[in-house]
Amino acid sequence: MSELLQEVRVFAPASVANVSCGFDVLGFALEQPGDEIVARRKDEPGLHISKITGEGGVLPTAVEKNTAGVAAQKLLEHLGSQQGIELEIHKKMPLGSGLGSSAASSVGAIVAINRLLGSPCADHDLLPFAAEGERVACGTAHLDNVAPSLFGGFVLIRSQDPPDVIELECLKPLFATVVHPDIEIKTEDTRNILRRDVALHKAVDQWGNVGGLVVGLLKGDYELIGRSLKDVIIEPIRSVLIPGFEQVKNAALNAGALGSGISGSGPSIFALSATRENGHKIAKAMQQRFDEIGLGNEAYVCKINQQGPQILEER
Ligand code: HSE
Repeated sequence: MSELLQEVRVFAPASVANVSCGFDVLGFALEQPGDEIVARRKDEPGLHISKITGEGGVLPTAVEKNTAGVAAQKLLEHLGSQQGIELEIHKKMPLGSGLGSSAASSVGAIVAINRLLGSPCADHDLLPFAAEGERVACGTAHLDNVAPSLFGGFVLIRSQDPPDVIELECLKPLFATVVHPDIEIKTEDTRNILRRDVALHKAVDQWGNVGGLVVGLLKGDYELIGRSLKDVIIEPIRSVLIPGFEQVKNAALNAGALGSGISGSGPSIFALSATRENGHKIAKAMQQRFDEIGLGNEAYVCKINQQGPQILEER
């Protein structure tokens, strides 16, 4: 009989949600950054968070208040497992950044625990537990960060409830540039400022763009991808919260980005491009604009992460 695993360490990727036109329905995973989560068997019953690093001591270790803790607890309840488990959460990305930080921690926690317990759930069946973590983080269980973080790649959330997630294969390489200005924006706050009603002509523009982006990805049509990366509903409202947004976005487009917009609920701004070289050039141009207005910032340039979470270590 094989030995039980005692400890599993997992990397779970950051993600860019919305992707301009697809509020709550589109997202993709990044190769970097990402959180690392360790799940360890303990003799004492129950789930505990023993350590959180990399977030300046602001995240709660109480399981019921922590997004990863809630996701993990839901999974254990579903499995009916009495196994004592200790979690370590190592944050490797800024909080409230628009990079899907809470989603990455939730995904890392449930993937690590599932593996520790001998993989009783298929990876795809873990989605609802990660979504419960999002509910704690920002009041709604939206899937456009957790699904790309869990599955990797580009995803379309055709339906939230019941979840229907479609993985979109992009026929051509796509590189993401994400620049994070050094301010924090809470997703819950940026959701509360959105209008509840949408003018029909704006909805028509928006769903035209969602369709265009999906087809552009599937056909590997960069020009169509670029034309479709437009958000006429959410970006005009949220962008006022990001100092220098228009200048940074224009800098990305002038440097050759296919398109650019707010990453998730911000404040990070993303751009897509066809080559890594261009991704770096775009990052430089975007960072320059933030530098000009005296806003500290950090840039990530990477390919879209096709793999999703990774088991880094197990014993
Ligand atoms: N779709 C979500 C939003 C992503 O824009 O509020 C942020 O987590």
